[in-house]
Amino acid sequence: MIEIVDLQVSVEGKAILKGLTLSVERGEIHAVMGPNGAGKSTLARVLAGHPAYEVTGGEIWFKKQNLLAMAPEERACLGLFMGFQYPLEIAGVSNKQFLSAALNAQRKAKGMEILSEVDFEALLDTKMAAMEILPEFMDRNLNEGFSGGEKKRNEILQMALFDPDFAILDETDSGLDIDAMRIVARGVNQMRRSDNALLLITHYQRLLDFIRPDFVHVLAHGKIVRSGGPELALELEEKGYAPCNS
Ligand SMILES: Nc1ncnc2c1ncn2[C@@H]1O[C@H](COP(=O)(O)OP(=O)(O)OP(=O)(O)O)[C@@H](O)[C@H]1O
Ligand SMILES: [Mg+2]
Repeated sequence: MIEIVDLQVSVEGKAILKGLTLSVERGEIHAVMGPNGAGKSTLARVLAGHPAYEVTGGEIWFKKQNLLAMAPEERACLGLFMGFQYPLEIAGVSNKQFLSAALNAQRKAKGMEILSEVDFEALLDTKMAAMEILPEFMDRNLNEGFSGGEKKRNEILQMALFDPDFAILDETDSGLDIDAMRIVARGVNQMRRSDNALLLITHYQRLLDFIRPDFVHVLAHGKIVRSGGPELALELEEKGYAPCNS
C-alpha cells in the first residue's frame, strides 16, 4: 500500500528525517512511537504533502504511484487521510459545510456521484452517532472552541466519512479521556478492513490496547531504529527509549 524508501527530509535547512524506510501493506496497522522531536509529525506531514518540508532524498510509493509528485489534494483523492496532532480551527466555515465540501470534492475526483444534502446528512448522522458526537457540533465553526478531545473525535469522524485506504493518525489519543479513547478506538476498529491500512503515531501503549497494531516501530535520530510486534510497545513503556539508542 505504501512504501517509504530512504526518506530524507529537512525543515528550514535542518535535517530531520535521515533515511527512513517503512512499508505498510493492506490490512495492516502500524504504530510509530519515539521521543519528542524525533520527526514523527514531520513524517506524517510529508506524507500528507505539507509544503514547508523539503524532501532531500528517498521515495514514497502509494498504491504504486509516486506520492511525492502529487499535490496534497491528489493524495487525498487517491485515498490518503491524515488526522492532525493539532487540528486546525477555521472561522466562518461550519463543520458540516467543511465535511460536505471535502467529501464531495473527493467523490467527484474519484468519478463518484456527488451526495445530495439529504444523502450527506443521512450519512453524517450515522457516522456521528457511531462517534457519539452531538448534532450541535455540525453547525459550529470547524474546530473553533472545540475542546482538545472534541477536535480529535471530529478528526475521526472525518476519517469515517472519507473512508480512506491509508490513514495516518498523529497522536489522536493525546488529550482524550478514557471514554473518548474507547469511542475513537471503536471508530477506528470499525473501519478496519483487509484492503485498507493505518499508521498510528502515539506516545502511549494504552491506545494500542484498544487498537491492536500488527507492527510497532521506534522512530529516533531520523530513522526507524527498531521494529517489532505489539510487545515492543510494552517494553518501551517499561524501559523508555534509552535501549534504542545503543
Ligand atoms: N516548521 C518547522 N520549523 C522548524 N523546525 C521544525 C519545523 N517542523 C518541525 N521542526 C523540528 O523538527 C523536529 C521534529 O519535529 P516533529 O514535530 O516531527 O517531532 P515529533 O516526533 O512529532 O515530536 P512530538 O512527539 O513532540 O510530537 C523538531 O526538532 C522540530 O522542532
Ligand atoms: Mg508530533
